[in-house]
Amino acid sequence: MKKTLKSVDYGLEKIFDGAQDFLPLLGTDFVEFYVGNAKQAAHFYKTAFGFQSLAYKGLETGSKDEVSYVLKQGKIRLVLTTPLNSKSPINDHLRKHGDGVKVIALWVEDAHKAYEETTKRGAKSYFEPRIHRDEHGEIVTSGIYTYGETVHVFVERKNYNGVFFPGYIPWESDYNPPNAGLKFIDHMVGNVGWGEMDVWVKWYEEVMGFVNFLSFDDKQIHTEYSALMSKVMSNGNGRIKFPINEPAKAEKRSQIEEYLDFYEDCGVQHLAVATDDIIATVKHLRSNGVEFLPPPPQAYYDAIPERLGEHMSIMKEDISALQELSILVDADEEGYLLQIFTKPVEDRPTLFFEIIQRMGAKGFGAGNFKALFESIEREQANRGTL
Ligand code: FE2
Repeated sequence: MKKTLKSVDYGLEKIFDGAQDFLPLLGTDFVEFYVGNAKQAAHFYKTAFGFQSLAYKGLETGSKDEVSYVLKQGKIRLVLTTPLNSKSPINDHLRKHGDGVKVIALWVEDAHKAYEETTKRGAKSYFEPRIHRDEHGEIVTSGIYTYGETVHVFVERKNYNGVFFPGYIPWESDYNPPNAGLKFIDHMVGNVGWGEMDVWVKWYEEVMGFVNFLSFDDKQIHTEYSALMSKVMSNGNGRIKFPINEPAKAEKRSQIEEYLDFYEDCGVQHLAVATDDIIATVKHLRSNGVEFLPPPPQAYYDAIPERLGEHMSIMKEDISALQELSILVDADEEGYLLQIFTKPVEDRPTLFFEIIQRMGAKGFGAGNFKALFESIEREQANRGTL
């Protein structure tokens, strides 16, 4: 059935008419990273990003091959997993990609149906529906592959009231640094290879029932040296948004190519997390040692009143406060947004985080792309990878 794009609402309202959403998604359930040392990574996400201890599985709980720490902040759940011996297949993932996102888990009403609907539309199976039980009830999961070795796991948890998942115990810690005001995942971006963006756009449309509601070509996203293309995919209720990036031909190597070279595959480029007060959040993160991209030049901040136009009258933040923290500003017809990007959070220049505060705007900061990419290029030049 043909879907017609109507309006994008990030609440419950459908973004398209005339179609049954065959894959209703309630939200992001968790994001799982495969990492070299989950114990230390967990400390980093608590100390630097203000995540809280939630759940644990490892040798003490009978998990002999892998250990996982679950962290929470607002509605965001991160799972950090490390293999406990050389036999675990997780080692292959780590050897090839380094630390990175393996699982984007999606919260569903019915994990059997999600599996059936997506695999019959061409999704490659990661695993068939499974039931996990403990004294707190049961969770049903199933999984499919998306780009690269990244997977979507469907999580049905309506009959479960434990802390996270069967097999995990609550993780109680004496070390509980304050949170940084991060609320939920706004969007998650995938980098794919040359000529593959439209393949994955079609895959999300056909297999997942998503719609492409924003597109940027290399004429819009370019600097003097490098370029990329991006299309934003959204599910029916707008709760899940996956922009997909592809490199574009230009004089020098784009950040997407750098990512693909170092991740050695397609994969998740960044997680954008929402805050209600970006100034407080960024101050907090900076004081915890989180590293952000260097600031754009003075001219960028001088041009803000003109770029924001009528939205200047509703803007609550002081431009000098934003500039002091290197926060970027963009606007669309419906409002403005504030955003900032961290440096990669591991030694390979691959995954990073975005902090975003939406003040009505529903875009992705297109007006900042040039300033942002010039900033990234300065970093690439330092790494010798431009
Ligand atoms: Fe983003």
